[in-house]
Amino acid sequence: MTTPFTIAIDGPAAAGKGTLSRLIADQYGFHHLDTGLIYRATAKALLDAGLPLDDEAMAETMARKVDLAGLDRAVLSKHEIGEAASKVAVMPAVRRVLVEAQRAFSLKEPGTVLDGRDIGTVICPDAPVKIYVTASAEVRAKRRYDEIIDAGGSADYQAIFEGVQRRDERDMGRADSPLRPAEDAHLLDTSEMSIEAAFQAAKSIIDAVLSRN
Ligand code: DC
Repeated sequence: MTTPFTIAIDGPAAAGKGTLSRLIADQYGFHHLDTGLIYRATAKALLDAGLPLDDEAMAETMARKVDLAGLDRAVLSKHEIGEAASKVAVMPAVRRVLVEAQRAFSLKEPGTVLDGRDIGTVICPDAPVKIYVTASAEVRAKRRYDEIIDAGGSADYQAIFEGVQRRDERDMGRADSPLRPAEDAHLLDTSEMSIEAAFQAAKSIIDAVLSRN
């Protein structure tokens, strides 16, 4: 294997790429970075300071201060923060200051898994493995709905479905680094797949590349 070995996982909100990326990182003993958390931390810093989410200069300042080693999933996982992160992520100044930190992370030995929206297209265009994980908006909304219900909460499927669609439109429609599959990405549609099946499919893709390296 040529080291460091980078695996780029991209896809829309709630496609299961976080869970899949963690399983892959565990399997190969690689470092994992959920890049969405960086945008979430930036958005949360603006919200906490009472600043508007479209203040590009302040958002850039907050993005510079994000510590990749200190990202707290429990604090950042809220749906409202994801929605705010999607708004902050459209601003080129924010994206620009985050590129180098993500690239530096991708070079850790012996290998890394980065998941996000622009890993295969912008952050790590030379990654030897790129996987674009997707699922229909209906399936993604249903999974999120079930998660909330299973955790004992209450949820409105239609509102979640509309939120998923809104996020897709913003993440795919922005001018800077929009969400799209890299030309050399393997497409993995998990609409009809369990997480275990998705993991096995990803593992086959990765093992095939590793055996050639
Ligand atoms: O993956 P997530 O839901 O935690 O991401 C939150 C938002 O952050 C997402 O809607 C868009 C933005 N994001 C991005 O623009 N680029 C990335 N590489 C990761 C996330």
